[in-house]
Amino acid sequence: MGPYVPVNKFSTNGREPSDYDNQAMMIPDQIDDMGEKRILVEQDFAVVEVEPKDEESCAAERLHHLTKIVTQFQDHLRERASNHLGYPGNHNCSHYLALSTLLQFNINNAGDPFKESDHGLHSKKFEVGVLDWFAQLWGIDKDEYWGYVTNGGTEGNLHGILMGRELLPNGILYTSQESHYSMFKIARMYRMDCGTIASLATGEMDCNDLRDKLLINKDRPAIINVTIGTTFKGAVDNLDLVVQTLIDCGFSDNQFYIHCDAAISGFVVPFLKQVQKFTFKKPIGSVSISGHKFLGCPMPCGVLITRRRYIDLISRNIEYIASFDTTIAGSRNGHSPVFMWYVLNLKGWRGLEQDVQKCLRNARYLRHRLKKAGISSMLNEMSITVVFERPPDNEFVRHWQLQCLENMAHVVVMPHVTVEMLERFLSDLIRKRNTWYGKVQPPCLAEDIGICNCACPVHACKCKN
Ligand SMILES: Cc1ncc(COP(=O)(O)O)c(C=O)c1O
Repeated sequence: MGPYVPVNKFSTNGREPSDYDNQAMMIPDQIDDMGEKRILVEQDFAVVEVEPKDEESCAAERLHHLTKIVTQFQDHLRERASNHLGYPGNHNCSHYLALSTLLQFNINNAGDPFKESDHGLHSKKFEVGVLDWFAQLWGIDKDEYWGYVTNGGTEGNLHGILMGRELLPNGILYTSQESHYSMFKIARMYRMDCGTIASLATGEMDCNDLRDKLLINKDRPAIINVTIGTTFKGAVDNLDLVVQTLIDCGFSDNQFYIHCDAAISGFVVPFLKQVQKFTFKKPIGSVSISGHKFLGCPMPCGVLITRRRYIDLISRNIEYIASFDTTIAGSRNGHSPVFMWYVLNLKGWRGLEQDVQKCLRNARYLRHRLKKAGISSMLNEMSITVVFERPPDNEFVRHWQLQCLENMAHVVVMPHVTVEMLERFLSDLIRKRNTWYGKVQPPCLAEDIGICNCACPVHACKCKN
């Protein structure tokens, strides 16, 4: 192996620039020796093997090289965040720079959050502070709940359904077809029978179908996942109706377990007056939420809260960590509880409410503009997810980072999404549609989002809502 030579990464790639070159990690302001634009290329991401001759100069050169690449990556991320509309993440993250000094510590919250281990570099006091906040939000007393800061919504779901399975080992998992894919993965991982419940055009669980399926399996307990903000349409399952359906079908309290997956709308629903609340005052067993979605923590994280009396079912004393093994993961991110604690305190209830109101307003604005432009679209009441016809142009989809499903695409109007960003998106969409739909017709979305939301030539004039 030769001396350390930074690979020259800034190749020109010899193609015509496209409308959306920035997304290919092109840094427009940086021009290479050939006078052309620089693009981060595959070799930049390789871990270079080196056998340095002159240790000191090589280390300096190496650091310079790494810094340059990281700076370019940062520019790339900034550009991507400014056009990020699809996946539900909040990219207003600059206030977390105040916590950057914590990166010099390796913080690990392994084990139970309520049991300090001998390992001193943890942030469990912050973690418990965050958990107390969520417990209060979801109406459960301090001495009645147990929970932890997870690695995200999926881990919270894994824990919630595990709780249900341990309480009701023979239970069937019922979850709507619009549930997050993690639910179906969990059913496979835990080898649980899974009943997929149909959903309405809004994306909400169809409780008539739930009733039919519960009655067919009346002899087996029910473990039900209720989604508070479905992944694609932002629908909120009707928790009260789910409970009523269980009662109507003859299921007593000890024959069912309800987990609420509030990954996306868990921060939105508490601020809405007309919407029914999900709370531990109702017969639910657990709630999980993501911290990197609406809250905008810069690393995947979340919270899971359940009833304290259930946790003994899975808890094991582990001498090696001097703590209880009650969580899904072993080592746990010790930074994320501090980041959650920081943003909850920084924004406060008022700040969060302002974020929610802004997102609802902007989502309604987007939906209004799409409708006015004659584009099929849907926005559930009190939701921040706008569904519309899938653009038939992958480059456009990638540029705006839209999530797509069959005929549909969606924009999740998170706090970083400004009216200015929506305007840029709308003018790009409306301009490109003229070329997409010169000779062919836009798709019919009546089955996906309902006739009244469909603006295809057949349905456009049928419904004027
Ligand atoms: C409803 C719902 N639940 C769970 C998840 C998974 O969350 P995470 O990506 O934090 O694991 C998502 C992600 O989009 C979701 O939409």
